[in-house]
Amino acid sequence: MARKFKNAREKLDAIAEEKSKFHLRECVAEAAIEWNEDRQTSSLVKESEILGRADEKKKIVSMLVSNASHHDDLSVYAICGMGGLGKTTLAQLVYNDKNVAKAFDLRAWVCVSDDFDIKRLTKAILESIEGKSCDIQELDPLQRRLVGMFVGKRFLLVLDDVWNEYHDKWDGLKQALQCGARGSTVIVTTRLEKVALMNYDGYNSFLSLGMFVR
Ligand SMILES: Nc1ncnc2c1ncn2[C@@H]1O[C@H](COP(=O)(O)OP(=O)(O)O)[C@@H](O)[C@H]1O
Ligand SMILES: [Mg+2]
Repeated sequence: MARKFKNAREKLDAIAEEKSKFHLRECVAEAAIEWNEDRQTSSLVKESEILGRADEKKKIVSMLVSNASHHDDLSVYAICGMGGLGKTTLAQLVYNDKNVAKAFDLRAWVCVSDDFDIKRLTKAILESIEGKSCDIQELDPLQRRLVGMFVGKRFLLVLDDVWNEYHDKWDGLKQALQCGARGSTVIVTTRLEKVALMNYDGYNSFLSLGMFVR
């Protein structure tokens, strides 16, 4: 054990020495930007590598496809829990479920992170559905295009890793989402309970990972 400690200390000394040799500086801001980019998610998941979660998945899938979820208003389901608990993974399992794919005309996956910018999100939703980049710049034509796509269609939208708790931003996005057909649903994953419990002015439900609350 003493030898292991000695080796570890020597390694740390060598790293510290390299730091000064290469004139490396600690810089929190740059690290934070890189971390955000690394956190970008997609709807793809390798199901064979995911353990457990069958119960949670079944609960959400049955809510999404059952008649009970055919509300006039947009339904919002929040999956809440601390980072790394498997919120994104659970949303991916639900998104790719056969019955869910059958129940919805359109599905879109958007990684929100801490940038709840309505223009960026509208564009990202369009791109997720169309599978190609969209070069519209202004919000109005972007939102009109989204409305044109959603009108009369039952859609499922995943907003992954939402930090925003501000109603005005949510309302701005919701205007374009409300044109979907009955049963259209948004799944929000978030670390913040206040985001999960936000009043989305529709049919709200929330799963705190491990426990059903409402
Ligand atoms: N049920 C599971 N079985 C195996 N690996 C899992 C499971 N849930 C999550 N993971 C893995 O754990 C890591 C964190 O999961 P993630 O869904 O990104 O958490 P969160 O979105 O809550 O931060 C990922 O690498 C993911 O693949
Ligand atoms: Mg996540």
